[in-house]
Amino acid sequence: MAIKLCICSTKGGVGKTTLTANLGAYLANLGQRVLLVDADVQPTLSSYFPLALTGEKGLTSLIVEGETGSTVSTIESDAIDLGNSCSLDLILSDDPDGALQNWILHTSDGRVRLRYILSEYDDIYDVVLIDTQGAVGPLQDAAVLSADLLVSPIPPEILSAREFARGTLGMIDRLKPMAALGAPVAPLRGLLYRMDRTLDARAIAQELRQETYQPSKGKITILETRVPATVAYREAATRQIPVHRWEPRRNGPTPSGAETMRALTRELLPHLDA
Ligand SMILES: Nc1ncnc2c1ncn2[C@@H]1O[C@H](COP(=O)(O)OP(=O)(O)OP(=O)(O)O)[C@@H](O)[C@H]1O
Ligand SMILES: [Mg+2]
Repeated sequence: MAIKLCICSTKGGVGKTTLTANLGAYLANLGQRVLLVDADVQPTLSSYFPLALTGEKGLTSLIVEGETGSTVSTIESDAIDLGNSCSLDLILSDDPDGALQNWILHTSDGRVRLRYILSEYDDIYDVVLIDTQGAVGPLQDAAVLSADLLVSPIPPEILSAREFARGTLGMIDRLKPMAALGAPVAPLRGLLYRMDRTLDARAIAQELRQETYQPSKGKITILETRVPATVAYREAATRQIPVHRWEPRRNGPTPSGAETMRALTRELLPHLDA
């Protein structure tokens, strides 16, 4: 069974695409067979890494027609410094006009289709990572409902903590009734993202836990791993290589790209000996 992770947030620009690309490449480098799904109408993930093979079709055919073959593109693992034995594939986003969103909205099983279609990849991939748009919508719903685990990057501004409670947790509440259609909402892991060293990560995590605490639901999980704000993420993106290859080591107290991806993998997918 492939494990499906959805990287989501109701706020834009928090680091979802950067995280999806880098975690995916890190897992591929560990020998996992990885499929990235670009479920954002703005196709940033689709062009994050160079492609070796471009699928004839993309996300629209995957969801509407259930086409799981010609929708798969292949990332050039050699060119992104992973060696050519790595398996890193991608479903391209192809919905610039929002036609797919509209289709999902007006199709009775629209929001749960992706979940069922992705299960067809269970024997082909070990991990499926789904990137989403930073705004509520039917495609975001479909992506969230496909996941076994939700990961939400949270930048440390207090406004985002409130947005996290109001937005992301609100979205999860709204989707809970979909469990009746066989699509229960997966557990959510909040990831403190773009932390700088002047911030007290522990205090922020504590505050987030309190602010998002609701007695009926219990506490949400804020991961111990924090992704630091460093220029390495942007530099690696510019060069189209994964951050763990661009920054394997780093001097000083801030963890390197490789150390951060390793820690995150240990926490999210403890069955992998990272
Ligand atoms: N750890 C990091 N440190 C510093 N900058 C980062 C880090 N991660 C990502 N960035 C930068 O932050 C910006 C936003 O990141 P990204 O595009 O991944 O966010 P997003 O959540 O996918 O945005 P959108 O909602 O628009 O899809 C980019 O310029 C990216 O290079
Ligand atoms: Mg993005």
